[in-house]
Order: sequence, then structure tokens, then C-alpha cells
Amino acid sequence: MAIEHVFIIGAGQMGGGIAQVCAQAGYQVTLHEIKEEAYNRGFAVITKNLSRNVEKGRMTEEEKQEVLGRFTQSLDLQNAKHADLVIEAAVENMEVKTSIFAQLDEITPEHTILATNTSSLPITEIGAATKRPEKVIGMHFMNPVPVMQLVEIIRGLATDDTVYEAVEEMTRRLGKTPVEVNDYPGFVANRVLMPMINEAIFTLYEGVATKEAIDDVMKMGMNHPMGPLQLADFIGLDTCLYIMETLYEGFGDSKYRPCPLLRKYVKAGWLGKKTDRGFYTY
Ligand SMILES: NC(=O)c1ccc[n+]([C@@H]2O[C@H](COP(=O)([O-])OP(=O)(O)OC[C@H]3O[C@@H](n4cnc5c(N)ncnc54)[C@H](O)[C@@H]3O)[C@@H](O)[C@H]2O)c1
Repeated sequence: MAIEHVFIIGAGQMGGGIAQVCAQAGYQVTLHEIKEEAYNRGFAVITKNLSRNVEKGRMTEEEKQEVLGRFTQSLDLQNAKHADLVIEAAVENMEVKTSIFAQLDEITPEHTILATNTSSLPITEIGAATKRPEKVIGMHFMNPVPVMQLVEIIRGLATDDTVYEAVEEMTRRLGKTPVEVNDYPGFVANRVLMPMINEAIFTLYEGVATKEAIDDVMKMGMNHPMGPLQLADFIGLDTCLYIMETLYEGFGDSKYRPCPLLRKYVKAGWLGKKTDRGFYTY
């Protein structure tokens, strides 16, 4: 299964990063957004990242132009008709994702693999929105994509071995390391990470310590490069809340209940770094 043309949905933090690493690895990339402003914002971040690579001597100006030349803008999902692989990185919401996948199933050729970068939503359920669940798979990149080594690859109940192998091979071509996991809420990464972040928010909510103190304890005491509250701001508090809700609903266990303070921040529109305000101001 040769992958040449990758269609990426969403030019946000994750979609933009995924598009960048795919173009750098030589793939033809179509980057799709709902609005032109969102595309332009995402593309500007990619251009800035590549320029920084040139400044630091990691690539030449010519290479940067070649990478940028592999991009095509899309504002119409019909453009996915040329894709060998789609990687969806829109918002963490099941209705949005199943609607996108049902449309992709109609638009894309039979051979096209449909991957999602979901942080926690069931791959099996997303696959069931299509007539090709054997070609639906999770490709969970980490943030920031150009820097982080891991891609958690999640098999849905029906995912075909050849599809898994094609995605695993592509991940290696991106210079990343694939790790195989099965489809349960939160997979491995967020099943372990998010309850820790949620618990850190509870310690703030209950007045156990200040946000700075909580982050310092985890940085200096546990050798984490970033405290959990700052990390939550970087991930996006809306994404953190969606993931906790998925764990809570998926396991039906009260230990996964989202902290009320997290809900309050999301309702206020304080979503972290991307809105310039979360637990910290940016
Ligand atoms: N933020 C993280 O650290 C992280 C890590 C791994 C996975 N993820 C997952 O990646 C996905 C995207 O997260 P993000 O942090 O990049 O969010 P984001 O808010 O930065 O970007 C989402 C982008 O998707 C676009 N979008 C929304 N609906 C769309 C549609 N129907 N068609 C096309 N574009 C659409 C939005 O305009 C926005 O630009 C989510 O599923 C999230 O759970 C996030």
C-alpha cells in the first residue's frame, strides 16, 4: 500500500504539526480547514517553524521552499478524492469526527486509509461511521509534533493488519517511533496522563497549593520537564475536558470525573495557550 498523497484535516496545533512533518518527509500534503483564516494561521506557524530551522542551520532555504512547495490548501472536503491517507485532526468531538469520516468514506477512493489523531475517542466507533472500518486507524501524534518522538498507533476492532503495517512504516519514514496499542478509552497515553492533570487541577481547586507550587513539585520532584497545569494549558483545556469526559463515560468509573474548575475555565473560554489564558496568562 504506497502512500504518496496525505490529506490532513485541521490546521490547528496538531494538524499543522502533522502536515509539517509529512511535507518534510517528502509526502504531498493537502491541508484542509473549514475557514481560510484558520488555514492561513496554521500555514503561518508552519512557515515560521521552517524558517527557524533554516536560522538554526537544520535546513537550507532551498529545502524550506521545497517543503512549502509540497503544500496544497483545501477548503472543500471533496479534495480528499486524491488522498492515499487521510489524517483527521479536527476538534475532539465524536459528532464532528463521525460526520467527517462518513463523508470521507463517500469521497475517497477505495484504497484510502482513514486515520484519526483523536486523543481518546474510540477508533472502533469512528470506523463504524464508514463502510470500511478495516481501513480506519488511530495515529495519535504528540504535541509539539515536530519535536516529539512517539506516535501511538491504535487498532480499532476491525483494523486490517496491512493497514496497520502501512501506517507503521509511514510513521518510521516521518522519523517517529510507532507504539502499538488497542482501542480502549484514552488508549495508553491519556489514560495515564490525563487523570494526573485532572488531579493537579483538583489540588488547585481544593486550595492545597498554588498553581506554581503544584507545577514546581512535579517538575523538581518527579523530573517532569513541565508541570501538569502548564502542560494542560499547552494541550488546551477544552481538549483535556473532552478526554476526561471520554474516560468517565467509557469506563463509568467516578475516578475519572472532570474537576469542576476545569469545566469552569472551559466555559469561560480560558482554553490555555491558544487563547492566551488558561491557568497561566501568555
Ligand atoms: N493538543 C494536543 O496536545 C493534542 C495531542 C494529541 C492529539 N490531539 C487531538 O488532535 C485533534 C486536534 O487538536 P488540536 O489541539 O490541534 O486542536 P486545535 O483547536 O488547535 O485545532 C483544531 C482545528 O480543526 C479545525 N476544524 C474543526 N472542525 C473542522 C472540520 N469539520 N473540518 C476541518 N477543520 C476543522 C479548526 O478550525 C481548528 O483549526 C483533537 O482530536 C485532539 O484531541 C491533541
